[in-house]
Amino acid sequence: MLDNLGRPGRILLLGGTSEIGLAIIAALAAPRDTEVLLAGRDEQRLAAAGKELPFQATPLAFDALSVATAEPAIEHAFAGGPIDLVIAATGVLTAQAELDRDPPLAARMIDVNFTSHVTTLLAAAAKMRAQRTGTIVVLSSIAAVRPRKANFVYGAAKAGLDAFARGLTDALAGTGVRVLLVRPGFVIGRMTAGMSAAPLSSTPEQVGKAVAAALAGSRTQVWVPRSLGLLAVLLRLIPRPLWRKMRR
Ligand SMILES: NC(=O)c1ccc[n+]([C@@H]2O[C@H](COP(=O)([O-])OP(=O)(O)OC[C@H]3O[C@@H](n4cnc5c(N)ncnc54)[C@H](OP(=O)(O)O)[C@@H]3O)[C@@H](O)[C@H]2O)c1
Repeated sequence: MLDNLGRPGRILLLGGTSEIGLAIIAALAAPRDTEVLLAGRDEQRLAAAGKELPFQATPLAFDALSVATAEPAIEHAFAGGPIDLVIAATGVLTAQAELDRDPPLAARMIDVNFTSHVTTLLAAAAKMRAQRTGTIVVLSSIAAVRPRKANFVYGAAKAGLDAFARGLTDALAGTGVRVLLVRPGFVIGRMTAGMSAAPLSSTPEQVGKAVAAALAGSRTQVWVPRSLGLLAVLLRLIPRPLWRKMRR
């Protein structure tokens, strides 16, 4: 990953400690002098995550719950030079029962999973448009396909993000900036710790490899695993009275 002057590439990971985001970066066939900016709220954990990568990694202050830090984080990241790849991996999965008891918590969850991506990615897209090159990876989810009563606030946030990413893809067509929309199913890891794995689940490493492979091609959307795309079609066809009975 070199820019048009032959300099090493630069990558920005929003959600700098994300297991999936870090697995994507680790799976890239990028040169060792690639610079990685890990944006997040805990500098120590960002620094620890950076040490696990085979690249030069720098922490960058970013809190998805503060709109005031979103644009400055993007400004700061691009001020250091062109960025080739932005990975939007910020996210939080809070149990629906907790949100039912605490509606303001639901609003914060939507801010992290949806609103902050709109702010940061619009700002990043403007910078990449000016560069005339760049790629934005957006982590949506199978949860975006159809709201389930077991986690419909998370599903609603992901559906919003998914729609935003598709719109952004179209808005950027022909500008040299590409969006890759990634829809994993259940990923076994920190976010899903304590939950029983769903069918067609994957690991962060499998998502990382699938995204790296998709980045090497020209696709705009990828399901992980690929068979999840077919399942998504079937999920939409389940009659609502039956769908309502789903416990998870
Ligand atoms: N895991 C799954 O099953 C799954 C499936 C489909 C899609 N996804 C999506 O994939 C993305 C990455 O998930 P993951 O599995 O890698 O989860 P993860 O390891 O828990 O990573 C989530 C990231 O979001 C960050 N974050 C949360 N709240 C934040 C805030 N207020 N400000 C800044 N950063 C914040 C976390 O930072 P901290 O370290 O500070 O908490 C962490 O870096 C998410 O968007 C998730 O919704 C996940």
